[in-house]
Amino acid sequence: MENLLQELQGAQTLEALESIRIKALGKKGIITEQFVQLKTLTGEEKKHLAQNLNIMREKFESTYNHKKQSLEGKRLAQELQNEKIDVSLFSLNAKRSIGHPIHYIKDKIIQYFVSMGYELCEGPLIEDDFHNFQALNLPEYHPARDMQDTFYFNDLKLLRTHTSPVQIRTMLSQKPPIKMICPGETFRRDYDVTHSPMFHQIEGLVVDEEGKVSFSHLKYILEDFLNYMFGDVKVRFRSSFFPFTEPSAEVDISCVFCHQKGCRVCSHTGWLEVLGCGIVDDNVFKAVGYENVSGYAFGLGIERITMLSLGINDLRSFFETDLRLLEQF
Ligand code: PHE
Repeated sequence: MENLLQELQGAQTLEALESIRIKALGKKGIITEQFVQLKTLTGEEKKHLAQNLNIMREKFESTYNHKKQSLEGKRLAQELQNEKIDVSLFSLNAKRSIGHPIHYIKDKIIQYFVSMGYELCEGPLIEDDFHNFQALNLPEYHPARDMQDTFYFNDLKLLRTHTSPVQIRTMLSQKPPIKMICPGETFRRDYDVTHSPMFHQIEGLVVDEEGKVSFSHLKYILEDFLNYMFGDVKVRFRSSFFPFTEPSAEVDISCVFCHQKGCRVCSHTGWLEVLGCGIVDDNVFKAVGYENVSGYAFGLGIERITMLSLGINDLRSFFETDLRLLEQF
């Protein structure tokens, strides 16, 4: 019996403790067996031994319970210790990433234009008809409004369909010369592999005295910018139409994937369309009360530039918040 109590005291784990309990009180346990032997005895002897056995069992049980409590307490403390999270610890497993590809490319574009002396401007996402359309030479019922499927709140308010209203706001609040870019979210009712209802644009605007800003300035800055963005690519200007610019052009670069050998991304044309631009239409200047000025403007979709620079082929992956996308960069 003394041995058993000593063993209980020495047990280091709950498992060891349990095996001692079985050794004493299990079906074939030492104490149990002695109780069985009682049956073979009679009279005083039986009574005496039974009393002793009961005392022994109680002593064993109380020591056992006591020890069990203390081991359980120790185990809980150990578990809490193991599970403790020190949020201030630097993790060696922390993965580094460029951040969200859209923001990475947006910042890269901003860096270029800011280094060229362009001022960074912003404007509201909820716009009115005047800033988003009318002042940009898109009067009511103009067919070109159909180019931009608009989310309307009511007749007066809408989600801006491009960043061009920031041009209008900047011209209304400043005097020329103006040299600005405005990055930001834009919205159109579109959703497929290459369109999402919310997307990002960056627009640029330069305005100065009449005769000071020409298409060749525009061509120079865009060619230089596209070489900064995509390395050594060919740049092509294709005549196009935008209501707020005249003349207008769309700009293509030689395909960065097949180097003009022909591939699926460039639809075997060897060219990728990357932005729109032009000389600011006089009607836009009239709308903001500018006279005797000249200017150019350009606009590009950040999603498209990001897909082409980083080789991402499904636009929807930008908005799925899947960490595996970020981990690749
Ligand atoms: N705002 C035009 C669009 O969203 C892009 C653009 C901007 C084109 C400036 C020409 C000049 O499609």
